[in-house]
Amino acid sequence: MDKIIINGGKKLKGEIKISGSKNSGLPILFAALLTDEPVTITNVPSLADIDTTVAFLNYIGKKAVKKGNTVKASPSEQYKHVAPYDLVRKMRASVLIMGPLLARLGKVDVSLPGGCAIGARPIDIHLEAFKKLGVEITVEGGFVKTHAKNGLIGADIEFRFPSVGATENIMLAAVLAKGKTRIINAAKEPEIVDLQDILNKMGAKVKGAGTKIITIEGVEKLHGATHKVIPDRIEAATYLIAAALTKGEVLLKSVVPEHIQIVIDKLEKAGMEIVSKKDTVFAKWVKELKPDNIATEVYPGFPTDVQAQWMALMSLTKGKSTITENVFENRFMHVAELQRFGANLAVSGNTVTVTGVEKLSGAPVMVSDLRAGAALVLAALCAEGESVVTRIYHLDRGYERLEKKLKQLGADIKRVR
Ligand code: EPZ
Repeated sequence: MDKIIINGGKKLKGEIKISGSKNSGLPILFAALLTDEPVTITNVPSLADIDTTVAFLNYIGKKAVKKGNTVKASPSEQYKHVAPYDLVRKMRASVLIMGPLLARLGKVDVSLPGGCAIGARPIDIHLEAFKKLGVEITVEGGFVKTHAKNGLIGADIEFRFPSVGATENIMLAAVLAKGKTRIINAAKEPEIVDLQDILNKMGAKVKGAGTKIITIEGVEKLHGATHKVIPDRIEAATYLIAAALTKGEVLLKSVVPEHIQIVIDKLEKAGMEIVSKKDTVFAKWVKELKPDNIATEVYPGFPTDVQAQWMALMSLTKGKSTITENVFENRFMHVAELQRFGANLAVSGNTVTVTGVEKLSGAPVMVSDLRAGAALVLAALCAEGESVVTRIYHLDRGYERLEKKLKQLGADIKRVR
């Protein structure tokens, strides 16, 4: 098992390119199942979750090949309609296989996704919505078995919560349904807009992505397309916080500043000097930062995927701050590990009170989930002495060439087998 060794205390300085978005690339790869014509997707990050999805597509019957940061999906064989546990358990986003296969085959059996480190993460919103499209659902033997005996019929669907995955799953199904579908209380994340863009390039009729109501007019067939995935806003936010923590300065290239506007605003308010241009963001530490509270919300609120990283920053910021997690029910797995560095954190329900400390000390720590891992790496970058970060396979799921990019910025970091 690989691990990362970091000697903290180096100011980050320099520039890096932000990779394509994991959370946009994944649903877009599943969209390739909606046509038998060639689909080319570029700016796809080289990440474990992307490789898992490409392998999943090939298992189902879609020929997909990733070369560098481009995935080419070519005409397919007859699709399988069963998604087995050993594939689904690796990645929760595997549930996105349902929309395309219901659209193409009218049936799909998916192993229940199971919980993960950040909570139970049920799929009830997905399933309730599929029922509205005419899908019969039974759960047996650890599988969700679904069948649309008369095909998918467009419908009005109101979400009790603007689930990102459920919004994507319904979009992937409704584009080939009979009639019109409206998703009310849809997720508004940039990844939803990116998915709408490629679906419309393929001949779908989707509008409203990025707002609360998405309208989809079903069509008979979708054709091939070429699409470039948007930049990864969570990766960008992570490196901005790394600059703040190490009192450095970084220039991020290939970024969409408005996708992380709330993080930029928070960092400016704390005291960072930030300059945003069309597709770059420059961040420079100029003075001691002031603490600031956050409460995670769906987009465009403070992203839950940046909560752990913000906690690492506040741990070293003089004064008190609170961090409230409103999206997931158990996303404080990083607290215990940050405390091993000497962070002063007190958990009460879904809120952590952070009391900034003068310094953190290097320690051996273990990654529990992707973004918790990012927080531990950030803390290690400014902790005094050596830190050893293990179970870094979680990091490989969401950060392309993490140690290379940090080394490029001057960090004393190495990955050892
Ligand atoms: C997506 O997960 C992202 N993953 C997550 O990023 C991100 O944290 C999350 O959206 C919120 O922004 C991908 O895009 C691949 P949700 P998703 O459905 O779709 C509950 C990362 O680090 N819920 O919006 O699973 C759920 O339990 C990952 O890159 C239900 O109760 O998120 C959670 O508490 C982590 N029933 C909340 O809603 C459902 O049917 C948000 O889930 C669906 C969700």
